[in-house]
Amino acid sequence: MKFFIDTANLNEIREAYDLGVLDGVTTNPSLMAKEGIKGDANVKAHYKAICNIVDQNVSAEVIATDFDGIMREGRELAKIDDKIVVKVPMIRDGVKALKKFSSEGIRTNCTLVFSPGQAILAAKAGASYVSPFIGRLDDISQDGMELIAQIRLIYDNYSYGTEILAASIRHTIHLIKCAEIGADVATCPLKVITDLLKHPLTDSGLEKFLADHKKVNS
Ligand code: G3P
Repeated sequence: MKFFIDTANLNEIREAYDLGVLDGVTTNPSLMAKEGIKGDANVKAHYKAICNIVDQNVSAEVIATDFDGIMREGRELAKIDDKIVVKVPMIRDGVKALKKFSSEGIRTNCTLVFSPGQAILAAKAGASYVSPFIGRLDDISQDGMELIAQIRLIYDNYSYGTEILAASIRHTIHLIKCAEIGADVATCPLKVITDLLKHPLTDSGLEKFLADHKKVNS
């Protein structure tokens, strides 16, 4: 399973990369706004800075919602670096653009996916990644994890090449369940990645090992 970090914060990206387990980054307009990144030149420079930290897979989202605008923005984003994956919303013109980007060899991430039907469309349009949002479904009392399972089954039935990028992950249980189901990628905040480290028995066990070592070596 690949781990992506869901942030536009350079320090968090560096921290996750330094841990040695990071396979990519996903951003979205809200995450870019959170970092105060505005203006075309600054946005592009920020994506370049992210690409300079990680080895691969930096999702950069288009703002346009019409086919021509999505294509224009996506091609510009793709020019920033070979690591860029153009993130396109699951809307009619977005699906058309996914197909066109695919024919041009530009990698894509279809975002804002909340149903198996949308995931089928993304795969048929040739998206490199599909991003079902688990947490936001949970927020409206629908089972986000069930959606991941449905998409896994459907994609396996037809050997679709689109990778399932589980998004809107809020805690480690989401991530573990995604791994059990077989999501290809989980994108999550830094805290979810570092929370995987934690177990009280690890802490108490290490404390005992070090105390026993000290007893015979002091
Ligand atoms: O980047 C897409 C997704 O991961 C957003 O998550 O927590 O805003 O629902 P969240």
